[in-house]
Amino acid sequence: MTTDQPHIVVDGVSIPLLGFGTWQLEPEDATRMVAEALRIGYRHIDTAWIYKNEAAVGQGIRDSGVPRDEIFLTTKIWVEHFDRDGLLRQAKESADSLGTTPDLLLLHWPKRKPSFEETLGALNEARDQGLTRNIGLSNFPSKEFRQAQALSSAKLLTNQVEHHPYLAVDELKRTAADLGSSITAWSPLAQGKIADDATIGEIGETHGKSAGQVTLRWLIQQDIIAIPRTTKVSRARESFDIFDFALTAEEMARIDALNRNERLGDWLDADFQWDQAG
Ligand SMILES: NC(=O)c1ccc[n+]([C@@H]2O[C@H](COP(=O)([O-])OP(=O)(O)OC[C@H]3O[C@@H](n4cnc5c(N)ncnc54)[C@H](OP(=O)(O)O)[C@@H]3O)[C@@H](O)[C@H]2O)c1
Repeated sequence: MTTDQPHIVVDGVSIPLLGFGTWQLEPEDATRMVAEALRIGYRHIDTAWIYKNEAAVGQGIRDSGVPRDEIFLTTKIWVEHFDRDGLLRQAKESADSLGTTPDLLLLHWPKRKPSFEETLGALNEARDQGLTRNIGLSNFPSKEFRQAQALSSAKLLTNQVEHHPYLAVDELKRTAADLGSSITAWSPLAQGKIADDATIGEIGETHGKSAGQVTLRWLIQQDIIAIPRTTKVSRARESFDIFDFALTAEEMARIDALNRNERLGDWLDADFQWDQAG
């Protein structure tokens, strides 16, 4: 694993804090952009079975020429595959499509049925069978994050949730710290909305950086993993250029203060509730 960019170590596993997201990337774009991102220097790629681009992502990894063992690769189990047999079947299918064993396999969204016992048991079995190196969660509120970890023999390395300047996740951060886990921010750029933010823009001017760069820096400076997505090589390059400056405590606080509890993608099952704000 390359060490010239910041990582977080969770349960002995080193994860690059800056990753590259692939949601909504058509297969052709996924192959092209994953290869480009890796050439730029990204060493962490995020995909999911439901994105229908795992094979394309695997191709991008091979096209890049970057050795596989330098890359941290995440994919996710879709909610329709949460029964034991279905989960193991998809874990195998995902590894086959990617053409490589993922480093991290997440449960995409929490689901009440089948039981957490069955699904967490199967996720651990997938790990024991070598279908993934590590396991984790996505979109689990704090209560269910704790329940899931209590049912999992292996550490759940991360909980990947929506997080950006307009949506604080303070309680989840405390829960992750408590459990010795981590938070990964999806939609870290608020799907592009941060580009027009006056406060973030002003902070960027001080550092000669764009609003996107300031936002990603704000995340990784808190040890939050961020996985921005773009179809543009120039933007991928820009988003990777965030390791040569630091935000002051005052600038960090000004960005914290932009929170307005704005959720851009809410597919949480009605059986669950997000943490209370604050
Ligand atoms: N676990 C989950 O449930 C879940 C849900 C959603 C997303 N995710 C993961 O998180 C990744 C990132 O989330 P996301 O794709 O929703 O959102 P994002 O990274 O916050 O934003 C991507 C959008 O912002 C634009 N953009 C990128 N860089 C920009 C910049 N510097 N300035 C202005 N606009 C910019 C992109 O357009 P261009 O292509 O034109 O650059 C794209 O439309 C996904 O790709 C996926 O891997 C996970």
